Amino acid sequence: MLERAPGVSLTLNGVPTRLASSPLARLSHALREDCGLTGVKIGCDAGDCGACTVLIDGEAVCACLTAVGQVEGRAIETTEGLSTTEDIVRRLRAAFHELGAAQCGICTPAMLLAAAALLRKNPRPSEVETMDALGGVLCRCTGYRKIVAAVMTALSFDGASPSLPEGGAVGRRVARLDGAKKISGEEIFGADEWPSGALLVRAIRSPHHHARFTLGDIDAFQAAHPGIVAIFTAKDAPGENCFGVIGAFADQPALAEGVARFRGEAIAIVVGEDAAMRALDLSAFPVAWDALPALTTLDEATAADAALIHQGRPGNILTRGRVIRGDVAAGLAASDVVVDGEFETGFVEHAYIEPEAGFARRVGDRIEIQACTQAPYMDRDDVAKILGLAPEQVRIIPTAVGGGFGAKLDLSVQPFLALAAWRLNRPVRMIYSRQESMMATTKRHPSRIRAKIGATRDGRLLAMDFSADFNTGAYASWGPTVANRVPVHASGPYLTPHYRALTRAIHTHLLPAGAFRGFGVPQSAIAQEQLFDELAIKLGMDRLEFRILNALQAGDATVTGQVFKDGVGFKSCLEALRPRWREALDAVRVFNAEAKGPLRRGVGVAGMWYGCGNTSLPNPSTMRLGLKPDGRLALFQGAVDIGQGSSTVIPQICADALGAPLKLFDLISADTDTTPDCGKTSASRQTFVSGKAAWLAGEAMRREILRLANAGEDAAVRFDGAAIVIEGAGGGRRIRLDKLPLNQSGFVAEVQETFDPPTTPLDENGQGEPYAVFGYGAHLAEVEVDVELGRVKVLRLTCAHDVGKAINPTLVEGQIEGGAAQGLGLALMEEFIPGKNENLHDYLIPTIGDMPPVESILIEEASSIGPFGAKGIGEQALIPTAPAILNAIHHATGARIRRAPATPDRLRAAILAAEGR
Ligand code: FES
Ligand code: FES
Repeated sequence: MLERAPGVSLTLNGVPTRLASSPLARLSHALREDCGLTGVKIGCDAGDCGACTVLIDGEAVCACLTAVGQVEGRAIETTEGLSTTEDIVRRLRAAFHELGAAQCGICTPAMLLAAAALLRKNPRPSEVETMDALGGVLCRCTGYRKIVAAVMTALSFDGASPSLPEGGAVGRRVARLDGAKKISGEEIFGADEWPSGALLVRAIRSPHHHARFTLGDIDAFQAAHPGIVAIFTAKDAPGENCFGVIGAFADQPALAEGVARFRGEAIAIVVGEDAAMRALDLSAFPVAWDALPALTTLDEATAADAALIHQGRPGNILTRGRVIRGDVAAGLAASDVVVDGEFETGFVEHAYIEPEAGFARRVGDRIEIQACTQAPYMDRDDVAKILGLAPEQVRIIPTAVGGGFGAKLDLSVQPFLALAAWRLNRPVRMIYSRQESMMATTKRHPSRIRAKIGATRDGRLLAMDFSADFNTGAYASWGPTVANRVPVHASGPYLTPHYRALTRAIHTHLLPAGAFRGFGVPQSAIAQEQLFDELAIKLGMDRLEFRILNALQAGDATVTGQVFKDGVGFKSCLEALRPRWREALDAVRVFNAEAKGPLRRGVGVAGMWYGCGNTSLPNPSTMRLGLKPDGRLALFQGAVDIGQGSSTVIPQICADALGAPLKLFDLISADTDTTPDCGKTSASRQTFVSGKAAWLAGEAMRREILRLANAGEDAAVRFDGAAIVIEGAGGGRRIRLDKLPLNQSGFVAEVQETFDPPTTPLDENGQGEPYAVFGYGAHLAEVEVDVELGRVKVLRLTCAHDVGKAINPTLVEGQIEGGAAQGLGLALMEEFIPGKNENLHDYLIPTIGDMPPVESILIEEASSIGPFGAKGIGEQALIPTAPAILNAIHHATGARIRRAPATPDRLRAAILAAEGR
C-alpha cells in the first residue's frame, strides 16, 4: 500500500502547494506562520472580525474557522495572490487608495478579497449587494462609507496609482502617501514580522478582580514542560517594576507583586519555543489565588469604610479636576428656566482590529522593541525604567498600527518583551489574543455625571453646575488627564457666564480606564447636550436655534476665561446644519403623522469642542528636514500614523511651507533612534502640533536655501532635479546641489524645528489658557425607532466640523466618518463588562450594515496658530454623534436615555416610563 506524504495539497495563490501543517491547524495560522502570508490578519481567531478572510474557490471565508484539512484540493487566494494585472483588482485597489478606503489598513486585505470576490461576479454592485458581500469584515476606522463607495465605483478607476500634485499640496485630496502598502497587503503590523528563531512570550493573568496570590513550584512546572525556556516574575525586573503614562502618577507594575488589582493583570510571563508555547495550558501554571473583596463600583470605592486600593490616595480618589467661573449659585437662582439630570456611561472598548503585538531583541547593551504603539518615546522611557537602563539604551521601532484610538498609548507587550529578551539575550515575540487585548488594556472611563443648567426666558444660558465621577480602574493611566480635561470642556462651546465643574477619577478593582478618543469629553457631552435639548424644549425654542443663540464666538471668554481672537467656527458649524435640520424636521413630522406601525422617526443635534493637545502642559513636536544632493528632501517625522493620515498631512504642510513639490519628499517614519520626538499620537495634536513643527521646518529650509544662494527673502525657490533655481528680480540663478559640501548626515542643508503650543497653567479655579486651539463641530442625526422592540436605526448623519484648514479633505472626511461610527457605537451598542464580553462576538461594534450615509461639511475658520490655520479632527469627530443620536431618540419617542448605550432593553424601558407605563 502506498503511504501518503503528510500534509495537504492545495492551490495557493495560483501555485500547486503541499502544506505540511497539521490538518487540524487553523488555516489562518498555517498561512501566516508556515507560508509567511501575513496579509492574512488575525483579529479574533473566532470568526467575529473577518480580518482573516481568504478566498476558497473564489468565495470569501474566515481562515481562522477553517481547518487546514478542509482545504485539500481547493484553491486558496490571499491578498498576496491578488493579481497585480487582473483588471478588476487593479481598479479596486486604485479606488481604495484614491478614496481613502484604507485608514490603518488592518482590515484592508480582507475587505479587498471580499470585494474582489463580489466584483468578479458582479462588476456593478448596488449598495445593498456591496454591504452584503463585505458584511463579515469589521472595520473600526473608516465608518465603512468610503469602502462601500470604493467597491461600487471601482470600475470607474483606471487602475493607475494616484498621482501627486505638482503645485501646492495643502487643501488637495492627496491619496495617502503610505497607502500603497496598505492596499497591497504588504504593510507590517505588530504581529507580522519577527526574527528567525524568536521565542514566544505568554502572560499569566489574574482571573479575579482582586486577589492575593502565591506562586508555586515554578521550576517544577518548567521542568515538566520541555518547551519552556524561562519564567519571569516581578522579581526579575532589573529596574523599577513600575510604569505609567504620567510620571507623577505612575503606579502600575509590569508584573504584579503578591496582589492582583484587576482581572487580567499579569503576574508572570512564560517564554519558550513557539509550538510548545502555543500548546501550553496556562491554567496549569502553579499559582494559588486568594480572592479578595473587590470594589467595582464608584459607590463601593468611595464608601466611608472602603479599603484603599493604593496607599496615599485617600478615598480611592486618584485626582480631582475643577473649573469655576462667576457665581454658579447666583446664576442658577437668576435663571428663568432650570433643568437638571444624572447620566451614566459604561466602559467602552477600543476594539481595534489589531491586538497588541511585537518583538524584541537585545543588541549588546541595548534593547530593541518593534511593536504597535502610539507613543514611541514614552514607551522608550518606561521600558528603560523597568530594565534599569538609560533611555538611550532602548530603541522603539513602531510598526504600522492596526487601530489605536488611545489604548496603544499605554504599554502592553513592551515590558514583557523587553524583560524576556534582555534576560535571555534571545529574540522574543508576543501577540495578545483578542480576549487578552480586551481584558488587560485600557478602556473609556465609565462615568456618572450630574448637571444643572439655567437660562433666561429669552434663551440665553446663564449658569451650569456640573460634577462627574469617573471610574478610573486599578491604575492611574490617563485618569488625571480625563479628570482635568472634562471640567474645561463640560460647558460645550457655549457662552456660559456662571460655571462650576468638579470631577474625580476614582480607583476601583477593574481594569485601568485610559485614553479613548475624547478623554472623557464624549461622556460629558452626552449629559450636557441632552440637557440643552431639555432646556430648549422647556423654553419652547427650536433646539438648533437655541444652540446658535448661545454659540461661543471669537472674542467671547470660555469657562476658563480664555479669549480667542480667531478660529472659533462653532456657530458656522451649527448654521451649516440649518437647511438639513429644517428638511429633516419636516420629513419626520410627515412620517410620524402617517405612521401606523411601531416605527417613529426623530431628529437630534449636538455640538462639541475639543482642545488640541495636552491640557496646560508642554507638548512639543520636533521635525528634522534634510536636503539631499539629488534635490530630494528627507523628512524625519516621528509622529506615528495610526491610520488617521499624519504621514500624508505632515509632508503636505512641510512641502507647501518650503515651496517644494510633494513628490520630492522621502518620509523617514518614527524610530526613536532616527527621528526626533514628535510626542504621542493623541489628543488631536499631530496635524496641529507636529504639522506646525513641519511648517516651521519647511520655512527654515527655505531660509537656509536662500542663505546658501545669498538671495533675499523674497526670492522664489524652484526645485529642478539636482539643482535649485533662485528666481529673483534679476532673473534665475541655478545652484547645483551635487556640487555643494555635505554635512555628516549626507545633506547639503539640514534644519530642525520644534513647536510647543502656547498655553498657560490653570489657577486653583481652573482659569487660564489650557489649549492654544480648539476644534469645533456639530452633528445632526436622523433616526428611526421601533418603539415596540426598542431598536434604533440611524438613517443619516450630517456632520459639520470647523477644522481651520482641511489640509487633506479626504482624510478629514475619513476621520469624521470613522469618529461618527464610534459615536454611533457609544450611543447604541457598546458597553464593556469585565469578565462578561471579552470578545467581538458579545461586545458589539458597528458593522457595515449599521452605518448610515454620512455627509461631512468642512468649515475652515483658520486659527492664526495652526499650520495654514489647521486644527485637529481625530477626537472631535466622535464627540457629538452619541448625544445627537440620543436627542433624536427622544424626539422620536419622548424617552430620555440617562444611561448609554441605548440598548433595546434600556430604550424599551425608557419608552414605557415616558408613556407612564
Ligand atoms: S481572525 Fe478570523 S474572524 Fe477574526
Ligand atoms: S482601516 Fe479598517 S480597521 Fe482600520
